[in-house]
Amino acid sequence: MKNVLVIGSTGQIGSELTMKIRREIAGSQVVAGYIPGAEPKGILLESGPAEIADVRDAQGLAAIVDKYKIDTIYNLAALLSAVAERKPLLAWDIQMNGLINILEIAREKGCAVFTPSSIGSFGPETPHVGTPQDTIQRPRSMYGVTKVATELLSDYYFHKYGVDTRSVRFPGLISNVTLPGGGTTDYAVEVYYSAVKGEEFVCPIGPGTYMDMMYMPDALKAAIDIMIADPTRLIHRNSFNIASMSFEPEQLFAKIREYIPSLKVRYEVDPVRQAIANSWPDSMDDSCARAEWDWKPSFDMDSMTRDMIDALRKKFAIS
Ligand code: SER
Repeated sequence: MKNVLVIGSTGQIGSELTMKIRREIAGSQVVAGYIPGAEPKGILLESGPAEIADVRDAQGLAAIVDKYKIDTIYNLAALLSAVAERKPLLAWDIQMNGLINILEIAREKGCAVFTPSSIGSFGPETPHVGTPQDTIQRPRSMYGVTKVATELLSDYYFHKYGVDTRSVRFPGLISNVTLPGGGTTDYAVEVYYSAVKGEEFVCPIGPGTYMDMMYMPDALKAAIDIMIADPTRLIHRNSFNIASMSFEPEQLFAKIREYIPSLKVRYEVDPVRQAIANSWPDSMDDSCARAEWDWKPSFDMDSMTRDMIDALRKKFAIS
């Protein structure tokens, strides 16, 4: 991993992953790929090259790969689950047509490719507790359909052409730099913003709904570690379950109230997101990731909550 293209570099994951690779992988050059309207700014723009990289423009992507001699592509372009239900054809276009463009370029030019999968790749028939690595994947959301297809197509390119595709199934990701947009797990990010700003939080997910969640530093570490893992140890490729914490809304609110007792919450359940959440695992079994590339998270709900509150207080200059 030396010359890296991050597609979606201004999104929730990309904005932090681009900077982490630039900082931590010695000798790396990371191109921040973006689409018009989501231009990189500040340190992201100043610390390295940036190029328009629309997954639907195969020629444009190939030109970037040639220009920077890209060897690794992080394909982070996606519509999240709730938005994908509103715009299923656009989700298909970005997630599937975009992916095949990237895989074809990777095949021709010898790039490794990381395209994240998700807890969204599972469905109602999947065992919800201790969801195994290899199990039933029959999601009913368009987001989930594209994620299962992403896993299959990525494995297909590995087996048929030897393209070095690898990935992880991310839980809901909690971060304090860039907000997610239109996911089912977004509540677990937004409640921290409300808590720190002293605003009432309106929760779209009902009490008792367990989902896997992860703090962004662990997710970034996973995204890098899987791509630099010893390939001879990998039995699986697309994609690995990774887990660090599982909770339902009341447990998260109780944890935040240990530090911000004034947090006020009201439920206004969104039926679309609730149906999606009900179909997703309560908690995934990540033993294959632990065995095959030494995956191990660092944050639990308490350490994440302390870090989130500190970071957001600094961000909004609240003491
Ligand atoms: N966080 C995503 C979503 O809620 C799941 O991968 O859509």
